[in-house]
Formats: sequence, C-alpha cells, structure tokens
Amino acid sequence: MVLFFSPAAICLVLSIGLLVGDVVVRRALLSPLNKIPGPRHARFTSLVLVWHEFRAGRTAYIHRLHQRYGPAVRVGPNEVVFASAAAVKEIYCSGGSGYDKTPFYDIFKVYGRRTMFTTLNKDDHAKKKRVLADRYANTNVVRQPSLDGIAQRATNFVKRCFGSVGGSLDLYIYLHSYAFDCVTHHLFHPHGTDSLNSQHDEEIMREVTFDDSLQNRLVGYYSPTLHKMFGKILYWFAKPRETPLADGFVLGTSAKTDAASFTLLNRLQEPGSKHDSLDIAAECLDHMAAGIDTTGDALCFLMWELSQPASFQYQTKLREELLANPGAPFDKLPYLDAVVMEGLRCFPPIPMSLPRYVPRGGRVIDGYSVPEGTIVSCQAYSVQKTDHNVFPNPDDFSPDRWLEPTGDAERKRLFFAFANGGRGCVGKHLALAEMKLLLQAVYSKFTTRPDDKMTAESMEMSDQLISSRPRGQRCLLRFDPLSPPM
Ligand code: HEM
Repeated sequence: MVLFFSPAAICLVLSIGLLVGDVVVRRALLSPLNKIPGPRHARFTSLVLVWHEFRAGRTAYIHRLHQRYGPAVRVGPNEVVFASAAAVKEIYCSGGSGYDKTPFYDIFKVYGRRTMFTTLNKDDHAKKKRVLADRYANTNVVRQPSLDGIAQRATNFVKRCFGSVGGSLDLYIYLHSYAFDCVTHHLFHPHGTDSLNSQHDEEIMREVTFDDSLQNRLVGYYSPTLHKMFGKILYWFAKPRETPLADGFVLGTSAKTDAASFTLLNRLQEPGSKHDSLDIAAECLDHMAAGIDTTGDALCFLMWELSQPASFQYQTKLREELLANPGAPFDKLPYLDAVVMEGLRCFPPIPMSLPRYVPRGGRVIDGYSVPEGTIVSCQAYSVQKTDHNVFPNPDDFSPDRWLEPTGDAERKRLFFAFANGGRGCVGKHLALAEMKLLLQAVYSKFTTRPDDKMTAESMEMSDQLISSRPRGQRCLLRFDPLSPPM
C-alpha cells in the first residue's frame, strides 16, 4: 500500500501512462496515414503483418486487405501498400528509379557486400547499373552464342520429358535445373552448369532452391540483437541460409578469366573495373540466385496451369500456333507471348511488395499525402488483379485477354511482375527468352496433363523473401508425345 502511493511509483506510472498515451495519440489520432483505409490494429502495430510473414503468407494477407479496403491499405503504423498504376509510377518510376530501398534488402547482402540489388540509395545503384546493364540488354541476350546456349538447355529439358513418357516428370526440379543452367550460361559461359545432365550440378541447384531460411532471416531482420544472442538455439528451429556448394561453385568460377564476351563475368573483369574478387563473386551469386527460382517457379506455375482441364483450350491454341510456325523466332509468336504474359500476371514469382521509403518532404501517392520515412510498396500479385476494368475476372487464367485490340496500354501499365522503372528486373529479357524457348520446345512436341498424385494444395503459393514457390515443392506432370522422338 505504502509502495503504491510512494512518489517514485506515482512518477513511474505517470511516465508509462504518458509514453503510452503519446504513442496512442500520435499513431491513432494524429498520423496523416489515418486517412488511408486498413484494419484498425494497423494503426498501432505491425504484429499481424509480421505473423503472416513468418507463416509464409504475407502476399495473400495483403491481397485480402486490398479486396476489402481497396487499392491503398495501411498495413502497419508506418507502412502502406498500394495496388494502382498511379502508385507504381510514383513509387518505382519517379525520377527514373523511384524511391530508395529500405534496409529490408540488407537480408540479401552476399559475403557482406552490397550488390546492385541490395544497394539502397538510388544514385549508388545507378552507378552500379551503368556497368552491368548492357549484358542484359535484349540485343545481347538474342545474340547467337547467348541464345544458342538457352536453346541447347531447352533441348536437354525436352529429352527429360521424352525420358518420362509412360510415367511423370517432377517439373519443379527440372525447371529449376533449366533456369540454373541458363543463368549460369549467361553469367559464366563456357563455365555454365549442366544440372539437367549432371548429378553434381543438380545438387547445387537443389541447395539453392530448397533453402528454408525464411523464419531465420526474418528474425535477423526484425531483431538483429535477438538473432545474435540466440542464433545457435534458433538454428535448431529455423535454419539459416547455408549454400556451401553454390558458394564453392561461384567463388571458383568467378575467378576464371576466359569467360565469353556476352557474359556478366567478362564485364565485371574488364580492365579498369572497380570490383575486387569478392565483389565479383557476390554480384554473380546474387544474379545466379535471382535467375533460378524466379524463372523456374514462373514456368512451373504456368505449365501446371496450362495442364489443367479448364486451361486445356489454351494449351491447344498454343500448340496450334507453334505447329503452324515451325522454327519461328520465339519473339514472333503472339499467342506464346500472351500465354507468358498471362502466366506472369496470374502467378508472378515475385508476388510480394517491394518496400521503399518515401523521400524527404513526403509525397502524394495515389491521392494520399504520405509523410517522409513511411514504408510504401506495391505487390505484383495485387497490382495485376485489383483493377477489374483492365483485367475483368482477374482470377481467371485467360491468355486471350492480352490479344484484345483495346486496352493494351492499360494492361501493360498494370503489369508489374518484373517491377518497373530503373530498379526493375535487369534480367527480364533473359527470363522471357528462357520461358518462351522452353514452352516453344515443349508444346511443339507434347501435350501435358497433371499426374493423379498431385493436389491443388501442393501448388498453393508459399511466400519466401519477396519470391514465392509452390508449397509442396513438387509438380508432377505427364508428357504425352505428339510423335515419337527423332
Ligand atoms: C520470370 C523471371 C523473373 C522475374 C519475374 C523477376 C522479377 C524481378 C523483380 C520484381 C525485381 C525487382 C525486385 C525488387 O525491387 O526488390 C527483379 C530484380 C532483379 N532481377 Fe529479376 N526476375 C526474373 C528473372 C531474373 C533473371 C533470369 C535474372 C538474371 C540474372 C534476374 C536478375 C535480377 C537482378 C540482378 C535484379 C536487381 C535489379 C536492380 O536492383 O537493379 N532476374 N527481378
């Protein structure tokens, strides 16, 4: 009783009360973000959002919020997600490459180095991009030695399909192998991998693709101190990212000095390059990782969809186009293009929001005043499905929508699978070439259908860190040849 009324106790209670009151008043009543719709708890805490992140379900949670509250949603005291073309333009394209990245990208640092992808500040990023960009320009990707390597790997994949006839093929594995072999060809030729034929190289791909470090890395991001103090205990519940085989491969290969002129390695080693050997390895490992899961998962979700009874009509149309134009360049086939665009619209392999800081002075985004320092983002999954005027029946897979004579500009404005602006995907042309060459090779020779052992649940989206993959990490398809192999 005495303690209860002591001046010290009263002071303590008053201080806590004032502190809590201050936070409540500032966050709940005075924040300019209060005008933005969203769940009430988001004014006070991000805990619900973080809980969904740990359960690999951030994208779906935010999408449900967009369906309920509209294209602008406050998801935390200092965080807003948008799903409109106006917001994409402002956040990712204003001034060329949009707003600076947030420290969320520190999670992706390689060997302690900042790569192009993990550089937060846009001026520093622009300097790095100037050095690398031309290796990913379309003209460089479609040059003979570059394209021949991709076509060879598509042929290797088709051999796997023929080998599976009478049974099924786990696309998840072999599409990731295909993407791995293609991207390492572009990074290191003639030292690219051959994981579609070599068990040793397949092991490297598996190590990267089956990484399960989501929770561990999230703890590191949200609480570095906790992560440092309890890292060893955490190891038993949530594994860190460990890729010794991939590290060994990249460190060894990036030290070679005879890479072909179209490769990234060749560019990074040019005389006068400011990169030391660890910078070069870090940049290469980053691009390798960026190129495996994205293209692998995009093709996996798309071929799974094309194999469903409801989409069989689209598979048939695609095959008709391919058979009517044997040997046509992959970029001159409109239906193939429509299939790829629709695949990336419905199943973007990086569906999650890409966080940026509102610059000094604050900005107006999609009609809302947003103060400086607020974390803002758009997620491809919602940007590509929220505007029903541009994408009617947005959940339906319907490649034909991309061939409609009207609305092309609006559709392209809302296409966000590769992000947008100066920080959008530098590997876009490479990824599109890989996807189209593979679909062209497969659907000129086979019809595909799901194996009976598959369930729809195992193909549900499971968020990782910005990318997403099929929950079951397995995708069994059956390949029926149109004619026997030559
Ligand atoms: C279908 C396949 C792909 C998709 C959908 C995709 C998507 C994306 C997206 C959305 C970003 C922006 C990420 C952010 O702002 O946080 C990005 C960046 C990037 N992507 Fe891709 N990507 C694909 C394939 C590739 C490939 C094959 C490479 C090859 C090396 C690649 C390399 C990169 C790099 C290096 C960046 C960072 C660019 C920068 O910061 O300037 N991507 N990608």
